Amino acid sequence: MKSRYEELQKLIAKHDYQYHVLDKPEISDYDYDQLFNELLEIEKKHPEWVLANSASKRVGGKALDSFKKVPHRSPMLSLSNSYSPEDLWEFDLRVKKFLKSDDEITYFCEPKFDGLAIELVYEQGILVRALTRGDGLVGEDVTENVKTIRSIPLTLATKKPPVLLEVRGEILMFKQDFLDLNTAQEENGLQTFANPRNAAAGTIRQLDPKIVASRTLRFFAYALGVIEGISFSSQEEIENYFESVSLPVVQPHHKKDMRRLCKGADEAVSYYQEILKHRHDLGFDIDGIVVKVNDLRIQDDLGLVARSPRWATAAKYPPEQAQTVIEDIIVQVGRTGALTPVAIMKAVRVGGVSITNATLHNQEEIQRKDVRVGDTIIIQRAGDVIPEVVSVLLDKRPKNSQAFKAL
Ligand code: IVH
Repeated sequence: MKSRYEELQKLIAKHDYQYHVLDKPEISDYDYDQLFNELLEIEKKHPEWVLANSASKRVGGKALDSFKKVPHRSPMLSLSNSYSPEDLWEFDLRVKKFLKSDDEITYFCEPKFDGLAIELVYEQGILVRALTRGDGLVGEDVTENVKTIRSIPLTLATKKPPVLLEVRGEILMFKQDFLDLNTAQEENGLQTFANPRNAAAGTIRQLDPKIVASRTLRFFAYALGVIEGISFSSQEEIENYFESVSLPVVQPHHKKDMRRLCKGADEAVSYYQEILKHRHDLGFDIDGIVVKVNDLRIQDDLGLVARSPRWATAAKYPPEQAQTVIEDIIVQVGRTGALTPVAIMKAVRVGGVSITNATLHNQEEIQRKDVRVGDTIIIQRAGDVIPEVVSVLLDKRPKNSQAFKAL
């Protein structure tokens, strides 16, 4: 029976990976549940066998009173950033100047995920700890919550795990999961979230891991912390290794070449433009791209300035905005009786989708922005999902317009 127990752990890990990372389930949900229940039965009979990284942790353990503060072995850094791709040429010049070399630099480029940074600590291939970024020096121990995220391996898929592997990456909620969560929250009379980022952050800071388990969070790995018993020579090699041990990295199948080696700043700028075009087809929010010097020896030479690496930078995307006219303001009644004013607008395209409705949140918000029927407004997709009214172009307001009042 012990060997069956171990086999079940492996089978469940494999099917979690197939389903949650590759999106290619090999068995039905029903068959998966059978395996899972068999595992739970064995654990009931043999509590002494229960592994600290058992697949049973996926459903979430006991609720906590608070999160423990734990220092990072090496600080979690931030990135210099700018909103214009032209700055990538300047970045490239700075890099070369610092290195006192004219040699072309190869950059590893990937999306900048709009979630929250997390550090996973694997000892001998076993996930022992997960920490939030915190202030970069000290994070919060959210291990039990992170263990419920089914795309995060509890054990690395390798026969020769390194002594220590600290993996850094981003936790996010996919847009569809965010919309489903908000619908469920509303149905249950609970608070809804403004955007997927807030939903992911709010979820990971839940004290009850069962709540975390009931929502779908995702993870993409993109950097290392401290490592022991393994070494790498490039960022590309690091991410290929992540992929090989079943850690999710941004998947090529999301869109071809999502992570890409670019020779020099010109190719990095093309990457920026190309990903910008596909930004809205991804299923999750990104707020730009990250450009990293690929060669780790060169990264080392470049080092840090303050709390940011000199070898990486972020080129951000502007929030998607558009101009249109409000044709009506209606009040929506939620299932729980909550009243939400909604602007009905002349259809306009924002970020590749045609939009006719934008939330005005509540009466105070309408008053603060003084939004009126007939107004020309700027709208924006907040966190890329729910369109909201940013501002009113007062010089375009019709003469006879009246302040809105209805709630
Ligand atoms: S690499 C800074 N890669 O951006 C050292 N960071 O402003 C290495 N982020 O806190 C970070 N996507 O949360 C890296 N593909 C990506 C990223 C990424 C998002 C976030 C990360 C970090 C912040 C820095």
